[in-house]
Amino acid sequence: MCGIVGYIGKADATSVLINGLRRLEYRGYDSAGLAILDGDRVLISKSPGKVANLKEQTRLAWSPELCHRVGTGIAHTRWATHGPPTEVNAHPHLDQSEDIALVHNGIIENYRPIRARLEGIGHHFYSETDTEVLAHLIGECDKGDLFQAVCDALHQVKGTFGIAVLSAREPGKIITARRGSPIVIGVGDGETIIASDASAIVAHTQRVVYLDDNDIAIVTADSVEIRDLNNVPVTREIAELGIDAAAAEKGGFGHFMLKEIHEQPESLGNAIRGRLDMDLGSSVLAGMGTSPRDLAELNRVVLVGCGTSLHAGLVGEYAFEDMADVHAEVEQAAEFRYRNPLLGSRDFVIAISQSGETADTLAAVREAKQKGAFVMSLCNVVGSTIARETGRGVYLHAGPEISVASTKAFTSQVAVLLMMALKLGRGRRLSLDEGNRFAKEIEAIPALVGRVILQSARIAELAKEYYQAQHAFFIGRGPMYPVALEGALKLKEISYIHAEGYHAAELKHGPIALLEKGTPIIALACDIPGKDKTLGNIEECRARGARILGIITEGDDEAAEYMDDYIAIPRSNALVSTIPAVVALQLFAYHVANLRGCEIDQPRNLAKSVTVE
Ligand code: G6P
Repeated sequence: MCGIVGYIGKADATSVLINGLRRLEYRGYDSAGLAILDGDRVLISKSPGKVANLKEQTRLAWSPELCHRVGTGIAHTRWATHGPPTEVNAHPHLDQSEDIALVHNGIIENYRPIRARLEGIGHHFYSETDTEVLAHLIGECDKGDLFQAVCDALHQVKGTFGIAVLSAREPGKIITARRGSPIVIGVGDGETIIASDASAIVAHTQRVVYLDDNDIAIVTADSVEIRDLNNVPVTREIAELGIDAAAAEKGGFGHFMLKEIHEQPESLGNAIRGRLDMDLGSSVLAGMGTSPRDLAELNRVVLVGCGTSLHAGLVGEYAFEDMADVHAEVEQAAEFRYRNPLLGSRDFVIAISQSGETADTLAAVREAKQKGAFVMSLCNVVGSTIARETGRGVYLHAGPEISVASTKAFTSQVAVLLMMALKLGRGRRLSLDEGNRFAKEIEAIPALVGRVILQSARIAELAKEYYQAQHAFFIGRGPMYPVALEGALKLKEISYIHAEGYHAAELKHGPIALLEKGTPIIALACDIPGKDKTLGNIEECRARGARILGIITEGDDEAAEYMDDYIAIPRSNALVSTIPAVVALQLFAYHVANLRGCEIDQPRNLAKSVTVE
């Protein structure tokens, strides 16, 4: 979604800003822009489309000296919410005096009445955005102190914001603030970088400060001073990022998605390592903050998330009920937050979010805390808002996931959920032996996934038989049902083939009407309970001319008979095999999309982190 970069220091601001925006490209956007200070004026350059367009446009419009001016600037990648992705709607936006420039993530909900009021006193607006209204409001509040003007303006707005503001009247500083939209400040040596996402900072420094909601900071090249919106100083610790700049590069792969698929043996290893205790037949997840009594008295587990994280939650639902004998349910976070959910202190609410910033999941966390539930999170991004607000949970340690379509975060989410289920199970009904067996299955996951990845070239060959399809159905049962949903999501996200995931038994209740000769059915038919029934459903599809691509267990000749094509994954426990199965589907989606020439890492209309409702 939208991205912010701000820079103040000894380097050439335009280059730093453009490089920072490039690091944010993976989040998804449709236009970009930047502003720098040039003496007593603000210079702006904007462009629809890619950051490369912005770079070229700036090079053509500005002198080489300006393009390399040392100093202060702010920049933005926009994912359109108010008005189409045109140059005029792109950020930064100026105030009426054209001395103040603003970049903004989030939504100002009451921008219409503010705009009407400002128009009534002579303000003229060029764009359709809520952001330009906020820029004008700051200008209107500015009586010679930019910091105070931003505070006063923010007191008048409703909604969410992560902002960076500069003024030609007060060079040498940037004001930045947040409410509901992340801001990280990188503290360098004689330079400070502001960003909405740490990936724009890693090239400069590992030392960062995360703003909390309603924090506002005065940033110079050598200092960061944080206050609240009432001008009361607040202290925020400097944290270490711990992200390797090289991890944000493609490392020889054609796409980040392929690189991240291949990283899974390692990312899963990082999620699992040190968290299994074979003597106790359990897992060690101290971050969950549960006591033996909490586990014994547990009433229910509620898993909330969006998109791929929601699908991970669905696998978790099976795991908690099977392993821990506890009632578990999964809810789409946007629904949960508005449904007035019934919760109590014996209910665990587990918020699942790769980014830790998804607006609906964050709101679900706040609702669950409000209701007194035992709330924890499962995030990948360390220090993200959801991780911090829950204060309890488990990090995935999957490393930065750049591809918009989530792969390694999903498999790590499932692995951690399995370990959580093991821990709960051991606290409730699982024997030492049962716990030990399951722990050993979990420990083997990275190796199982490695064996699937070795089949990438073969899956690329298979993809040639399917890449021209217009529709595809993914079917599965039990824990393979969410894998079918996730496989369909991956295919549609990156290849734009219309794909649906269904419970294998559900197909005949409607979708079967759409089957024609050659319609692809991707069937999760591993050798786990329910396989025979799934094979029956496959027969129904074959009888109607569908082409069947099976995900089966290695050596299962019976299942192979039912398939036109198949990918075999190593034998394992039903819950564990969801992970190698989904990796096979990730590779399938990748190779299909590659054959179709799609823009795999940044699919159209999608954003990596959705910070609006
Ligand atoms: C966006 C992304 C998805 C992701 C979802 C939830 O829609 O495109 O890949 O699954 O957000 O993101 P989260 O960061 O909360 O896991």
